[in-house]
Formats: sequence, C-alpha cells, structure tokens
Amino acid sequence: MTEMMKAIRQRKPGATLQIESIPLPEPGPGEVLVRMSASPINPSDLASIAGTYMAKSWPFTPGLEGSGTIVKAGSGLLPRLRMGKRVACSPNAGGDGAWAEYMKTSVMKTVPLPGNIDLEQGSMMLVNPMTAMAFIQLFKEGGHTAMVNNAAASALGKMLIRLAADRSIPLISVVRKEKQVQELRGMGALHVLNSSSKTFEDELRALSGQLGATLILDAVTGKESGRLLNAAPDGSTLVAYARLSGDPIQADPSDLIRLEKNLKGFQLGIWLNSKSTIFKLRFLKSVKKEMSSSLHSHVNQTFPMDHINQAIALYQENMSAGKVLLHL
Ligand SMILES: NC(=O)c1ccc[n+]([C@@H]2O[C@H](COP(=O)([O-])OP(=O)(O)OC[C@H]3O[C@@H](n4cnc5c(N)ncnc54)[C@H](OP(=O)(O)O)[C@@H]3O)[C@@H](O)[C@H]2O)c1
Repeated sequence: MTEMMKAIRQRKPGATLQIESIPLPEPGPGEVLVRMSASPINPSDLASIAGTYMAKSWPFTPGLEGSGTIVKAGSGLLPRLRMGKRVACSPNAGGDGAWAEYMKTSVMKTVPLPGNIDLEQGSMMLVNPMTAMAFIQLFKEGGHTAMVNNAAASALGKMLIRLAADRSIPLISVVRKEKQVQELRGMGALHVLNSSSKTFEDELRALSGQLGATLILDAVTGKESGRLLNAAPDGSTLVAYARLSGDPIQADPSDLIRLEKNLKGFQLGIWLNSKSTIFKLRFLKSVKKEMSSSLHSHVNQTFPMDHINQAIALYQENMSAGKVLLHL
C-alpha cells in the first residue's frame, strides 16, 4: 500500500491553501527524504503562492526553506552519510516545498546543523542569514564606504544592522513607518530614515553624501528605486533584491547616463553559484557561527500546519513583527 503524508497544497495560482493527503515521495539518486520540523513564511512564499515567483506547475506544496531530519537516502555516498542528520533544507527547483510532513530534495540542498543551532532557527538559515552575509561581501568587494538598505525593519534588515555595527560599517536603514524608526534606533541603529516623511529625499541625499553611501540595497523597487538612486552619490550602485512594491524599477535615466550610477540585481542562489567551493564552505561556516547572535531571527508566532491560512493572515498583517513559523 502507498504510504501517505500530510502536506499544504495549492491547486492553482492564487487559490486557497488546503491540507491534503498525498503519497510520500521517494528520494532518487543524490536525493534525501527529510522529516520536516519547521518552516517560516517568507515574502518569496507569498509571491510563490500568488504565482509570480519561479517557474513551477500546480498543484504544488509551497515552502522555500525549512529544517528537519534526514530519514531516507537515495543512492550515492553523500545521501548515505547524511542519514539521521538534522539539516536546514530547501526544495529542488520547481519541486514540492517544505510545508509538508516530508520533503524530498537534493542532498546538495541540505546543510547539517551544528548542535548550537536549533531546528527553529535552522529552518530560517538558508535565505535571510546567507543573504545578509552576502550583502556584507558585496560591500567589501565593491570597495564601498557606507551602504543603504530599505524595508529595513524586515528580519534581513535587522540582521544587516547587527552585522554592519559589528564591523563598523556605516549603514542607512530606510523604513516606511515612524514606529519602525523608533524600533531600529532602539536596537542601536545609528542612521534610520522614514521614506514616508516629506523630507526623506533631502535627508537621504545629505546623509548619503556625508557617509559616502554608494551601495544601495533595494527590496522595494517601483518609484522607490528612483528616489534612492537620485539621492545617491555619483557612481553609486543600486542592487535590486526583491520587488515588495510589486512594481518595476522606475528611475531617471540621467542618473545612469550622466552621473554614472548603476543598476544591478541580486539573487542569493545565482550569487552563490558564481563562487568557488572553498569560498562557499568558508561562507557557510561564517554564517553558522553568527546564527545565535547577529543572524538570529525573531519568531513572532508558531502555528501547526493545519492553521496555515491563519498563519499567513497574521504574517501579512505585520511582516515586521517577526517570523511566523509553521511546525510541521
Ligand atoms: N534576492 C534574494 O536572494 C533575497 C534573499 C532573501 C530575502 N530577500 C528579500 O528580502 C526582503 C526581506 O525579507 P525578510 O524575510 O527579511 O522580510 P520580513 O521579515 O518578512 O519583512 C518584510 C518587510 O518588508 C516590508 N514591506 C513589505 N511591503 C513593503 C512595501 N511595499 N514597501 C516597503 N516595505 C515593505 C515590511 O514592512 P511593513 O511591516 O511596513 O509592511 C517588512 O519590514 C524580502 O523582500 C525578501 O523577498 C531576497
């Protein structure tokens, strides 16, 4: 008889999520089966459910990262060596995701968790902590002296504030609500600006010029990109890493043509693939080292799998309040 498991499923883009009983997947060569423990709801999951993130077919199981224990190995040495290990994991490209009792994935998409990283924090290790550290690397490689980040009350924004402070890197954090300004100042951020303020662009121009903030990390895009780029010193680079506004980048071409400002994109997987194996191993080691300090994620609330729609509603209500985690 086919063994079955519980999974959160979506029948078509935008449709309501529901719990279904589906066959337990069988790991193929180079793959493992993970008994899932926890998984966060990230902005990329919302885009995935809306049908606007990465190519895939429906019905599907969402969940772009999580943690659990490897309980079955497909053929190959590495899958066998990882048997029984607690891991952070992400799904195969286009494959079913982490919001299920079990996930089948490539062993290369699993990272063993050391004893000091629990399964909750481990479930959030592969997206935001890696990206925050990658931004520090972009900063160093680009020879910048200061940087700007928006949507800065996010989990990622808070990690970047802590990493930058530890390294004495001047960082301008941009948020859109006054209470977020107070919250980030409360955690020690020196430069926090509110993009909803009438004086925002003047303040950003003055502060960016004073600090030499030539790296602009933009998660919002739309008109916001044009405002950030316009206020940036000549020769600055704007790196778009999400489109929270839902809108395409709108910028004044003069900034690009006359003032030698640049536009780039960042996607963690693509960036990591451009690096050597040695770099990746060292990078992962440095991420693991800071998971219980700078790269810690605050958890707002946890939900069982059956309460997925309630969990998403709570997350959307206040994304800056911390991660909403599913216990699977
Ligand atoms: N490119 C990559 O490889 C990569 C990797 C990791 C993360 N990311 C992106 O990084 C961003 C942060 O991720 P996270 O998990 O840390 O987020 P999070 O903790 O879930 O928080 C989301 C943040 O986005 C803000 N936000 C939402 N819509 C906005 C809008 N239209 N304008 C301005 N701010 C808005 C929210 O502020 P409010 O509370 O005011 O709504 C909140 O602070 C996401 O966009 C994510 O997709 C990209």
